[in-house]
Amino acid sequence: MADAALTRPPEAAADWTIPQGWDAYTPEDHATWDTLFARQVEMLPGRVTPEFMAGLDVLRLSRPGIPDFEELSDRLMKATGWQVVAVPGLVPDDVFFDHLANRRFVSGNFIRRPDQLDYLQEPDVFHDVFGHVPLLAHPVFADYMQAYGQGGQRAAAMGAIDRLSRLYWYTVEFGLVRSGDDLALFGAGIVSSRSESIFALDDPSPNRIGFDLRRVMRTRYRIDDFQQSYFVIDSFDDLLDQTLNTNFAPLYAELEGQPDHDPETILPDDRVFTRGTQAHARG
Ligand SMILES: [Fe+2]
Repeated sequence: MADAALTRPPEAAADWTIPQGWDAYTPEDHATWDTLFARQVEMLPGRVTPEFMAGLDVLRLSRPGIPDFEELSDRLMKATGWQVVAVPGLVPDDVFFDHLANRRFVSGNFIRRPDQLDYLQEPDVFHDVFGHVPLLAHPVFADYMQAYGQGGQRAAAMGAIDRLSRLYWYTVEFGLVRSGDDLALFGAGIVSSRSESIFALDDPSPNRIGFDLRRVMRTRYRIDDFQQSYFVIDSFDDLLDQTLNTNFAPLYAELEGQPDHDPETILPDDRVFTRGTQAHARG
């Protein structure tokens, strides 16, 4: 993810990349990865979209523990032409968009401590790699991520990053997708979190609403707790199609000056899958 007000640390290159430093990980770091990996892989089948489970194979490398980005990038490059590069943490928006537009996914290289298995505010290598990389091995989702980066570059020029970032938030990070008559998880913020993998799909608290690009771009989100609304895409093909075939410039202009929606609001035109109780948010 990206943040505008950042200064580049001296060890980072001009594009903010740093060496991953795989040899510096401790046995405890690798054990943390293996613990998180094992418990998500046990819980996700039947909850996560099958494309994610298929993409997980790209993470099964020659050594256990935290993936070596060089080996991971070799495998991902063969699948969809993407690479994974290490960065010191959050990077500025323009840097983030430039990497995505060139099919490079930026990942933090540090891993959470063993006492932080369940929650971490900053994205670590488990969130970034386990959460995001499997779907980057899927050709349509891989194209969507690049299209988002290119759209981000255009949005920056129009002062509309805040609005576009809601698309990323409600799809790449916290998206659900239809799977037959059911819903399935695909957002990285959900699938890398044991508790949110359960909450997003099973809890009566949040709304689950059919995805609508314009609607999503008007909806604020929460960064400090589980989401109050999740948006459900029909398919990755449809998401890519809408992203490529929407003319965003007039849309940004039109939305300028229109009020935002609160995260828990349900609108009359919404395609509602679940009307949430919001008990979690109120509790
Ligand atoms: Fe993320």
